Amino acid sequence: MNMDVLNGLFQPKSVAVVGASATLGKIGHTVLLNLQKSQYKGGIFPINPKSDEILGFKCYGNVLDVQDPIDAAIITVPAKFVSQIIDECGEKGVKGLLVITSGFSEVGLVDLEQELVAKAHSYGMRLLGPNIVGVLSNSDDFNGSFAPFLPFKGSASLVSQSGALLIGIDAQTYTRGIGFDKLISIGNMSDVNFADTIEWLDQDKNTFCISLYVEGLKDGRRVIEVGRKTSKPIVALKSGVSAHGAAAAASHTGSLAGTSKIYKSAFAQAGIIQAEDLDNLFDRTLVLTLQPPMKGENVLIITNGGGVGVLATDSAEKFGIPLKFAPPDLQEELKKYMPSFGSAINPVDLTGMAGEGWYHDTVKIGFQHKWVDGLVILYCETAMTDPLGIAKSIKKAVDSTGIKDKPIVVSFVGGERSDKAMRWLVENGIPAYGGPDVALNAIGALKEYAKIRMDTLDAPAKFDDVDRDEALKVINFARNVGRDSLTELESKQVFKAYGLPVTYAKIATSEDEAVSFAEEIGFPLVMKIVSLDILHKSDAGGVKVDVNSVEDVRKFYNEILKNAKAYKEDAEIIGVVIQEMAPWGTEVILGSVNDSTFGPTLMFGLGGIFVEVLKDVTFRVAPFSKKQAKEMLNEIQGAPILAGIRGEKPRDREALADTICRYANMIYDLHDEISESDANPVLVYDEGDGLKVADARILLTKK
Ligand code: ACO
Repeated sequence: MNMDVLNGLFQPKSVAVVGASATLGKIGHTVLLNLQKSQYKGGIFPINPKSDEILGFKCYGNVLDVQDPIDAAIITVPAKFVSQIIDECGEKGVKGLLVITSGFSEVGLVDLEQELVAKAHSYGMRLLGPNIVGVLSNSDDFNGSFAPFLPFKGSASLVSQSGALLIGIDAQTYTRGIGFDKLISIGNMSDVNFADTIEWLDQDKNTFCISLYVEGLKDGRRVIEVGRKTSKPIVALKSGVSAHGAAAAASHTGSLAGTSKIYKSAFAQAGIIQAEDLDNLFDRTLVLTLQPPMKGENVLIITNGGGVGVLATDSAEKFGIPLKFAPPDLQEELKKYMPSFGSAINPVDLTGMAGEGWYHDTVKIGFQHKWVDGLVILYCETAMTDPLGIAKSIKKAVDSTGIKDKPIVVSFVGGERSDKAMRWLVENGIPAYGGPDVALNAIGALKEYAKIRMDTLDAPAKFDDVDRDEALKVINFARNVGRDSLTELESKQVFKAYGLPVTYAKIATSEDEAVSFAEEIGFPLVMKIVSLDILHKSDAGGVKVDVNSVEDVRKFYNEILKNAKAYKEDAEIIGVVIQEMAPWGTEVILGSVNDSTFGPTLMFGLGGIFVEVLKDVTFRVAPFSKKQAKEMLNEIQGAPILAGIRGEKPRDREALADTICRYANMIYDLHDEISESDANPVLVYDEGDGLKVADARILLTKK
């Protein structure tokens, strides 16, 4: 990525406003006025052939008339003129184009938009937008937008796909007292996208946390790659979580692959923390900007009120940090700073008598103790205490320890005096929130951040015993005979080439052949119809299990064919599969989709009712580590079944995790070939006994 060009876009040393207008109320006027009001120190060049001067700036008829170099051009002319302006900017040697103008892909003019990008690239320029509000940067005194003012000063930076929301957030930074350095409107993302912007912000010395408002990524896989490498926390609010396209999906997995579930997994894989809503985006941005990740899971809560303490305890559980009793030595030490009717267990209740001294001393003791990984300080406003005094005593205690690698968050419940004290805390680097639940959610984000950052260091699982050529041979055979899906047997051959344990099977095309295969494989057996026109074999009466004799093989062979014809008269029948009958085991499903945003993505869940009714499944973008595969096993609600319930032995989760990784590598390796697939059911046996893929299906990409 050419950082110099992106510097020109996000941190320009000089800027032209093409379409600058003397008319108050026009966007071209507002942008120029904003540059002036924000006291931008770089060169400002209004471009408008009708004017000589606007707002005291010399006006030029064309960018080519400007003698000085121009880093960025903010374009505010109607859509029909944009192409010509890009040519002129290209000839001038402009680096970045901020295209505010609307009326491109968002109204269906995709080709026109792509032409603009191609043109910009032909001159070595990058294009932000079109359909953007602009870029705002406090550290550069740069309001290159039509948002009203620079945001409240701080060190997070926001990238927003919605322009209007960015303007709203800009104003809210003041009412919430949560500061940002940059606000970047990313618009239609025709060229510069989320991944580019994250990469640029990662090297921006004024950004400590990257906040995203995402409607839909265009560059999902790159966001994962870039996110994993980013050294700064990233928090994202994703809207539009409907399961688009799922209804039309042909495979079982396809129909379960709602975008929100895939986004959730993909963000975690990218090391991106998710926010639930706009409030939560602000709250999590604040804590991730000001505090370090929480590396362990022991949180100590100190409070002057039992009620907020209980509320915080409930929330701790909810946000994945269940409270533990403080160790005895810590309790002993804390007891010195509370009345006998207080409690040092955790939450530490200093009681309503707590003043600045007790807060100071207990915070200091708690923060320094090696058992404590993070501190949550709660305070309810009382008539005997000054909230600002309490705030200052907390800050003083924290500073006196010199500790920088443990987080602390605060919640003050009270009125205006508490609000003022919390503002003071935030200005002094300690995140403070009105509700104890919000404080716990915030420290939960720091724990999540520590965990997902560690996870991003894991390398994907690797296997040396894969036979890609064999898999491609099977796929090419099917393609050569004009098919875009594989039979069960072919699917299993592909799975086998990637080391998945499939049941042994052969296709019989006559009754005698069925008998001969049955004798070769041995009883009991499973017999199944093979027809690409019959997707649901059981519904068609096309499956017989526990077949135990040659007589039954003959009988069922004919019965299966008859049932299939009755089910679908014109179905093309390839034959009947004679398959080894795997012993009963816990049924799980593995499957894949080639997600339009993230590419090959694997699904895992328990089979039967768990998948059919409860949709108890989880996803990962392929490939991934064995640790991730094991986490998938724990993520589903049915996890205890795999762990072994009611005295049952645990299932072979090690073998299952291995198979999941092999499957993920297969769909990644063959993503040009496989569009959707299912292994359903996969029968998982007791620990040490492995598993078997009993049925398989692969749909090929259209070529
Ligand atoms: N070079 C320089 N100036 C030019 C050129 C040119 N080639 N051609 C036209 N101009 C001038 C015009 O003469 C005019 O200046 P004037 O006021 O002195 O006459 C100025 O450029 C603007 O042109 P207008 O025709 O007056 O266009 P207007 O200002 O009404 O609209 C705009 C232009 C704002 C780009 C509009 O087309 C548009 O796209 N609006 C939507 C923008 C938007 O909302 N983007 C963010 C979306 S996110 C959200 O919803 C918040």
